[in-house]
Order: sequence, then structure tokens, then C-alpha cells
Amino acid sequence: MDLCLVLMITSFGLGMVSTHAELQRFEQPAKTDGKLSFLVLGDWGRRGDFNQSEVAHQMGRIGEKLDVDFVVSTGDNFYDDGLTGEQDKAFEESFTQIYTAKSLQKQWYSVLGNHDYRGNAEAQLSLHLRKIDSRWLCLRSFIVNAELAEIFFVDTTPFVKSYFIDAKGHTYDWRGIGNPRAYIANLIKDLKVALRESSAKWKIVVGHHSIRSIGHHGDTKELVSKLLPILKANNVDFYMNGHDHCLEHISDTESPLQFLTSGAGI
Ligand SMILES: *[C@@H]1O[C@H](CO)[C@@H](O)[C@H](O)[C@H]1NC(C)=O
Repeated sequence: MDLCLVLMITSFGLGMVSTHAELQRFEQPAKTDGKLSFLVLGDWGRRGDFNQSEVAHQMGRIGEKLDVDFVVSTGDNFYDDGLTGEQDKAFEESFTQIYTAKSLQKQWYSVLGNHDYRGNAEAQLSLHLRKIDSRWLCLRSFIVNAELAEIFFVDTTPFVKSYFIDAKGHTYDWRGIGNPRAYIANLIKDLKVALRESSAKWKIVVGHHSIRSIGHHGDTKELVSKLLPILKANNVDFYMNGHDHCLEHISDTESPLQFLTSGAGI
């Protein structure tokens, strides 16, 4: 059985069951041949500019060739400052009207990036957007069971201390986070349980920020200390992120863990 992952390089560019842990779970049925393929991108919503439309076109082509099952977005879904609210036209102008290829009319699973937190973060989580475009599914942290692979989506922005103590003129929408230390502790606890209980052949963790990167932002030290040990201890195969706007593949020297940075574009 194959697992086919395609990371978009370039410039820019269900049935729900709740269980034990707090993390919501979604079931993504496998194809009848048992194969699984999906596209991963991050850092994209530009109303088509910065070559977002060109990347979308290429995604449509490769998506058809690989018969992708779904698309993963690693966050920074709408630039510069997320969505202003549920009615923000940027949702349609940067998503619905851009990813029009037939092969991309699949479920999209998205997390929030730091730029999304600079707008109305809760708007992106809203059911209203799913009514406008049923492909959209964005939550802070959740799990997708794709049979061959289990994918654990992690909300990494609240881990990064500098956004709280040195916001550099930006405002972040921390509604729904509460005490960030408690939020992170809780998330880590739920993730540990879910990873430990997973029997999937491939365990994949997705977040916006890199754990390891030699790109512009480099490593995210809070994730190196708090998230990395859990991934190693639970035999996670891949950690996939965006944020650094480049394509990277870094291998851990002490475990089978592979770090993949996808997406790109200012
Ligand atoms: C779009 O892509 C072209 C071709 O690769 C490149 O020359 C151009 O600089 C890109 N434009 C932007 C705004 O990134």
C-alpha cells in the first residue's frame, strides 16, 4: 500500500465521531485500492496574487494525476491578517474562487497560522464558512483518520511565546485559548493519548510552525522542547508544517521522524 505525499513547492504558495480524548476526530474513507494521496500547502490566501492562482492551477493538474483524497493546509490561510469575520469576502476570493479545479473539490483540512490569529481566528472555525464552501474544515486541533494514515493537527501558534510578549504591533485573537500554559498542557496531554492509542501504519502530525527548519524563521524552540519529545516517543513518521515559505525535508538523527516544510510565499 502506498502513501503518496506531494508538497507544493513554489511561491505561494465526514463523518464525525468524538472519543476518549478532547480532540475531535474525522473519518476520511480510503480509496478502494487502499492507496492514499493528498496535497499539502500552506501560507496561501492572497486573492490569487503572488502566483497563488498559478500554484492553484498546478495543484489542480497534479491533484488529478494523483487522484488526491483531500488537501491539507498548514495555516496562514488568509493574508495579511486572517479573516475579519464570517462575512469576509476574502474567504471566497482566496479560497472558493481560486481552487476551482475538479480534482481539488475534496475535503480540505486546515489549521490556523500566526497570520490567521491576527484577524478573527474564530471566524475560520465557523460552520458558516462550511456552508459557503463545504470543502472547508478548519479547527484548532483535531484528528483525521484516513485508515492507512492517522493525521494529528496541532494548533502551534499559542506555543510561541514571542506572540504574547513581543507582538511587534500586531494584535492576536486569543479568544478561546484562555491561559496559554494550560491550553498547551491540555493539548499535549490529549495528543499523547491519541498518538499512543493510534494503530495507523503512518502517523503524521501537522502544524503551522516548523519544529526543525533552516529557513527564515528557523527552529521553533517551544516546539522542540514541548512537541518533539512526544512525536519521537510515539513513533511519528512525519511532521508537516508551513510558515517558512520554502520546501524542506529534514531527517531526525535519533528517530525515523521526518520534518517536511511545504508551501511558501511571503
Ligand atoms: C510569479 O512567478 C513568476 C515565474 O516564476 C516570477 O517571475 C514572479 O516573480 C512571480 N511573482 C510573484 C509576485 O511572486
